[in-house]
Amino acid sequence: MQPPPQGRDGIGIRPVYGPDDTAKDLPERLGEPGSFPYTRGVHPTMYTSRPWTMRQYAGFASAAESNRRYRDLLAAGTTGLSVAFDLPTQMGYDSDAPEALGEVGKVGVAIDSLADMRVLFADIPLEEVSTSMTINAPAAVLLLLYQLVAEEQGADPAALRGTIQNDILKEYIARGTYIFPPAPSLRLVSDTFAYCAAELPQWNTISISGYHMAEAGATPAQELAFTLADGIEYVECALAAGLEVDAFAPRLSFFFVARSTLLAEVAKFRAARRLWAHIMRDRFGAKDPRSLKLRFHTQTAGVELTAQQPEVNLARVTIQALAAVFGGTQSLHTNAYDEAIALPTDASARLALRTQQVIAAETDLTDTVDPFAGSYAVEALTDAIEAEALQLIDAVFAHGSAVAAIEEGFQKGEIERSAYETAKRIDSGEQTVVGVNAYTLNGAEAPYQPLKVDAAIEAAQVARLASHREGRDAGTLESALAGLKSAAAGTDNVLYPLKAALAAGATVGEVCAALAAEWGRYVPTDNW
Ligand code: 3HC
Repeated sequence: MQPPPQGRDGIGIRPVYGPDDTAKDLPERLGEPGSFPYTRGVHPTMYTSRPWTMRQYAGFASAAESNRRYRDLLAAGTTGLSVAFDLPTQMGYDSDAPEALGEVGKVGVAIDSLADMRVLFADIPLEEVSTSMTINAPAAVLLLLYQLVAEEQGADPAALRGTIQNDILKEYIARGTYIFPPAPSLRLVSDTFAYCAAELPQWNTISISGYHMAEAGATPAQELAFTLADGIEYVECALAAGLEVDAFAPRLSFFFVARSTLLAEVAKFRAARRLWAHIMRDRFGAKDPRSLKLRFHTQTAGVELTAQQPEVNLARVTIQALAAVFGGTQSLHTNAYDEAIALPTDASARLALRTQQVIAAETDLTDTVDPFAGSYAVEALTDAIEAEALQLIDAVFAHGSAVAAIEEGFQKGEIERSAYETAKRIDSGEQTVVGVNAYTLNGAEAPYQPLKVDAAIEAAQVARLASHREGRDAGTLESALAGLKSAAAGTDNVLYPLKAALAAGATVGEVCAALAAEWGRYVPTDNW
């Protein structure tokens, strides 16, 4: 591939734009808000009738501790939950596994079994709240634990609303929490699509994510292209598994970053909607308008936060959140200003939420739809990012498939090249980072007290797990795990026996080990 165009984020923004810079067929390229190709947004009224969901990613230490944080966030006015799991849970290991040592409860909450999940959502009515869970390789496992807890609460599964990240392909590209090789992982994704269509019709079955690629250094066009290429791959796998496109496509969702480069980001979001609408209609023949709508969550750019003068991050996050809102996001996480240093404190997490509330309640941005429409600069940038992303999608599929390109290290290599270009620009001072390579305080910064996770959390979680294991019926558990293995070895949907095993008390580690016994564990090749 050619190196990305020069200039920040590979976008050469020009000093002046005029009428000649917008396409002659602009009205068709835009459509009305809520109409094909959805450039202006997925709803006719957008925020004028309902603001985006304020969904703050949170979770650490124990289920009880995280439950307290969720209830605080709900009391403070958050409108959706977003669960962060610790690394062992994300990798399918129990808290007492040797691989989990030193990681339990660190970057998210430790969930080993139904017992923990019950505590995590205690006193939170799951039929009323929508919950996102950032979980990928074991996404089906955590989803079923959620369903089991909701059913215990008396909720109707058909009424449950939320999202699992479930985007395994970007784990191979940029994030790293994979368990199984690509083929069985994709089968698990298709099984989950089919299960949700039948049992949890309001659940968003995947959050196809560019965020982590962007954090690893992808330009906006790369973020879009590699994410939509993954989306195409998921659709192709589900079709190959015999699903009808309009049966699962309405519940595909996306996840992007919002950086401080506001104009380029607004253009990126608008281009994303237009690209996906065309892909779904023209490539896959989707008929249901809901299948054509790219709905997305946004998180402000963690990588742009600085440990130096951390309060300056408040300004950055505000600008990034504005980019997401101008871009028509459905759901937003605003980072806390101290996230470059540690997990947010109660106070900084609240301040991050307040930033969204100020934008929603005190500005005029919710009074009109897609206010940048018709801007010479933003329309030209939307077209430019769309065209570059299309070229890159073709470059991915020139490898045969998105998975083949991943296995050859294509996306990762391109992203690393962009990351290197950005690092060089910052090192040379060509790109200013306030407080880092300009406007520094030379050691005169006030000390900052980060939140620390109590080291005793691991021992306490291991003890809870031991007592959970003791309370199970060994015969029921063994036969449930055997049922799961035999489904994994055959072609039956694995989610039904998986749910039975979890209900019998199987742990996250045990069910993942049972699947891995049939499917193997993924070992990256030298290309990585
Ligand atoms: N007119 C009509 N209806 C409207 C409307 C309007 N103006 N605005 C909203 N609605 C409706 C919607 O259609 C929807 O109804 P439906 O479900 O029947 O279609 C309902 O109101 C809810 O609205 P949204 O779907 O817009 O909002 P949600 O918040 O429910 O869903 C989502 C948003 C993007 C589709 C969903 O997938 C989601 O919530 N994603 C969140 C993902 C997330 O939080 N990820 C965290 C990642 S952190 C991470 O990865 C960790 C680290 O590594 C960075």
